[in-house]
Amino acid sequence: MISRETIDKVFETARVEEVIGEFVTLKKAGSNFKGLSPFVDEKTPSFMVSPVKGIWKDFSTGKGGNAISFLMEHEHYSYPEAIRFLAEKYQIEIEETEQTDAQKEAADERESMYLVSKFAQEYFHKTMLNTQNGKAIGGSYFKERGFTDETIQKFQLGYSLDEWTAFTDAALSKGYELQYLESTGLTIVKEDGKQFDRFKGRVMFPIHSMSGRVLGFGGRILTNDKKAAKYLNSPESDIYHKSKVLYGIYQAKKAISKEDNCYLVEGYTDVISMHQNGITNVVASSGTALTPDQIRLVKRLTPNMTVLFDGDAAGLRASVRGIDLILEQGMNVKVVTFPDGEDPDSFAKKKSTEEIKEYLSEQQQDFISFKVSLLMGEAQNDPIKKSALIRDIVQSISKIPDSIKQEVYIQECARMLEISETVLFNELAQMLDKNAREADRKAKPSSPRMSIASSKKGTSSLSNTGSQPPEDMPDEAAFQEMMLAQEAAMLGQQAPVRQSDVVKSAGQLAFFEKEIIKILLLYGNYEVCFIDWVEEHDKNGKVIMVKEEYYNTVGNELFLQLQDDEIEFTHPLFQKIYKEISYQINQEEKLNVDFLTSHKDQEIAKEVTDILMDDERYVLSNWASKEIEVAKKTDALQKLVQDVILNLRRVLIDQKVKELTQQVAEEDKRMEALQDVMDYTHLKKLLYEKLYRVV
Ligand code: CTP
Ligand code: MN
Repeated sequence: MISRETIDKVFETARVEEVIGEFVTLKKAGSNFKGLSPFVDEKTPSFMVSPVKGIWKDFSTGKGGNAISFLMEHEHYSYPEAIRFLAEKYQIEIEETEQTDAQKEAADERESMYLVSKFAQEYFHKTMLNTQNGKAIGGSYFKERGFTDETIQKFQLGYSLDEWTAFTDAALSKGYELQYLESTGLTIVKEDGKQFDRFKGRVMFPIHSMSGRVLGFGGRILTNDKKAAKYLNSPESDIYHKSKVLYGIYQAKKAISKEDNCYLVEGYTDVISMHQNGITNVVASSGTALTPDQIRLVKRLTPNMTVLFDGDAAGLRASVRGIDLILEQGMNVKVVTFPDGEDPDSFAKKKSTEEIKEYLSEQQQDFISFKVSLLMGEAQNDPIKKSALIRDIVQSISKIPDSIKQEVYIQECARMLEISETVLFNELAQMLDKNAREADRKAKPSSPRMSIASSKKGTSSLSNTGSQPPEDMPDEAAFQEMMLAQEAAMLGQQAPVRQSDVVKSAGQLAFFEKEIIKILLLYGNYEVCFIDWVEEHDKNGKVIMVKEEYYNTVGNELFLQLQDDEIEFTHPLFQKIYKEISYQINQEEKLNVDFLTSHKDQEIAKEVTDILMDDERYVLSNWASKEIEVAKKTDALQKLVQDVILNLRRVLIDQKVKELTQQVAEEDKRMEALQDVMDYTHLKKLLYEKLYRVV
């Protein structure tokens, strides 16, 4: 592991504009830099770098972050790879941390396995190019299949001699240890200690990680031996996890990103032939069903996937099933089928690049429509089959996370299936409900915990002393009416609610949670005079509201207020960010935003960057006329802080009242619940008054 000190040094030294400047032409624009997005083709610059904040944002794609995350996005480096790249650029010596012996051993072991695999790849490649048998057997096999020297180079293809221990001997004589030859599966060691080469007599396809490390191999047999497997693959190991790799991703990643689409084929040779014939954004699942990990690999590069199916329709129906998984990951899926008897490999060989591109773009069908037409043929005049088909299709649609897309698909399917939209929507609603319940059972979300909601102590700034249970308990209907009336009265006061009341409370909570994070990030260290209203009794014992003023930093104030109410964030990401921020406020006494934009947790770094950059966006759109003053939020800081806290409390209380109102319906809990509702309603009334007063 790279030491914390090294990482810190890299962050201190790296200038975001210098790092990005290597890949994007940047022009000075005020205190920032702008340029054309490196992620899409565009004519007007939407890419911005802020040297002061050490961050960048691409407004075309919404991507953004610090120097490290730029390298991860643009070069598809992993985090340590990006650190190493920068260390080299700035000539910073990399210090590795002390690891436990077990950690060291595991890391060393994996490293040794990588080294052995790299050696094997080079050995097989050289064997094919330089030895008699390599040229005559391996080389001519690939020539026969039409692969050029350039292709062989690009995919680092090779040949493993048809001898029992040629490779193992070569590796051992170079000092590689048998242990790693065995754990990578390159050498098979029998119980009696006899060793032999796993890939004896096969042409070799090395399998790379996204960043180009050799993880394993596929080896194709050259004979037509029906007893032996056509392809033999490396076994699962600490470095090779079949379900997490895609063949060709290393060679295709740039093109996938640029074309904003990824073609998915079945096999090694499909990938290679397509490449050789001009289609380079293509990867293979290696003959098995796609896994979520593999889909996520592609999703780092593009949300669009086009699945290419062989002409022989045999496996078609089975493969179609796997596609729901791609939809579920929120990807847009298209499908192309090839003419009977053709696979991408054979098809690509026969056609010019132009012809292939034309075929792909003309034949591509949206997945849902493709599925409908595929299954329709079979269900034509059979009502039972047809209803199963409808369920099947709607099941697919229910996997799409985007509800607007769902609606469009429902309309399209209704048309194709000649069935009413209502029926399909009903089916969809039921399925979504079922999916949600299943998801619910899997992961129970944590509900907000707060003292307003649970304890009798009230809150530091909001006591509910005035609430007395009414003399006679109203019945349920009267109660509801009273609630509504009170609600209406409150809303009538037009309290400063920032978001439409239509939004559900979960959304409202997340909204205000984000608002708090934003205020903390932008103004956390500002010192501000705060105002509070406290209930006091005057000489006659009457309750009066008294104004109090005090100074505090925005960060501290927010932290204390939230802590007083034991409010916990509900949105998982905002919860994480808030935890980091509150740790800093308490431990470091000052908020360090750089620490967050360069946070190791990419989710945190990205969200924080987005929030900070959104503030700059205004500057971007007014580049020409810099005189325009950006609204001075700082003036109204204290109000901003008070409002957001009060609004958050309001939403939480709303939620609680709703819960309790439901409980009222249950006979046995009725009395207690009613009492609570009264208390909360009063609390809410106070809150609205307060919100109103602060204005
Ligand atoms: N595959 C495998 N093991 C097998 C057969 C196939 O791992 N015994 C995987 C390989 O990744 C292969 C893919 O499934 O590339 C598709 O299989 P197939 O269509 O049979 O192979 P092709 O790639 O078409 O190979 P070739 O053209 O060399 O016959
Ligand atoms: Mn084939």
